[in-house]
Amino acid sequence: MNGLAGKRVVVTGGTSGIGIATAERFRAEGCEVVVFGRRKTKDTIQIDVADHEAVGKAFAEVGSVDVVVNNAGVSVRNLAVDITPAQWRQVLSTNLTGAFNVAQAAARQMLLGKGGVILNTASTNGLVGYRFYADYNATKAGVIELTKSLALEWAPTVRVNAVCPGYVVTPMQEAEYTPAMMEELNRRIPLQRHGTPQEVAGLFAYLASDEATYFTGAVIVMDGGETAGSLASAGSLGD
Ligand SMILES: NC(=O)c1ccc[n+]([C@@H]2O[C@H](COP(=O)([O-])OP(=O)(O)OC[C@H]3O[C@@H](n4cnc5c(N)ncnc54)[C@H](O)[C@@H]3O)[C@@H](O)[C@H]2O)c1
Repeated sequence: MNGLAGKRVVVTGGTSGIGIATAERFRAEGCEVVVFGRRKTKDTIQIDVADHEAVGKAFAEVGSVDVVVNNAGVSVRNLAVDITPAQWRQVLSTNLTGAFNVAQAAARQMLLGKGGVILNTASTNGLVGYRFYADYNATKAGVIELTKSLALEWAPTVRVNAVCPGYVVTPMQEAEYTPAMMEELNRRIPLQRHGTPQEVAGLFAYLASDEATYFTGAVIVMDGGETAGSLASAGSLGD
């Protein structure tokens, strides 16, 4: 991708699933990648993105950054009537407050320097309702609105975009869906399969690159056609 080589990139939640693939993809593009992860590994800055002060310190330690991929997230499959205050707090503080903490700390540097790109991970769950994920869905809808608002405030220096993946095969997905449930989903998705972490990573790389310099405030859906139709189109028969 044009313009990525030599860029300094932070990927949050980069020790699993989409985050690992994203870190690998940016490294393959010649970037210097710093991973913020909850788990300690030798190449990771251990951090809870919900901790505002810790996020600020981590960015101070890393120094200037060109691209941030706000990828850390959690989901818990639960009926809305059974969501506990602790679950609600964890999902909100990671997915929404965490994304804000990271974007704010990054922008404070980028706005004073040579600008940059912030990419937020929303989801199709932020676009339409799904049972069992009321808290998660609320955070992802919040990430979409946060993205648009930050894009307006930080233009033209910092580009801010959101990506909405559909079903992607990762440890998060495999923890909550049995193989039979995943097969059933594959039958319902127009492209008849889950997405891969590498496909999402490729979209992040594109959006961070000089190929995508007119994208800001955009919400890009990558879901194999899952949300292209609705109950209304499902009723049009012929399938
Ligand atoms: N897998 C899917 O189908 C799918 C679909 C749409 C969106 N997403 C989103 O993509 C992102 C990555 O998901 P994934 O499927 O790779 O999940 P995953 O569980 O494999 O990875 C999530 C990562 O986030 C990290 N993390 C969680 N809480 C954290 C915290 N408080 N501070 C720092 N790191 C934290 C975890 O340690 C892990 O490395 C998430 O934001 C998720 O909501 C996933």
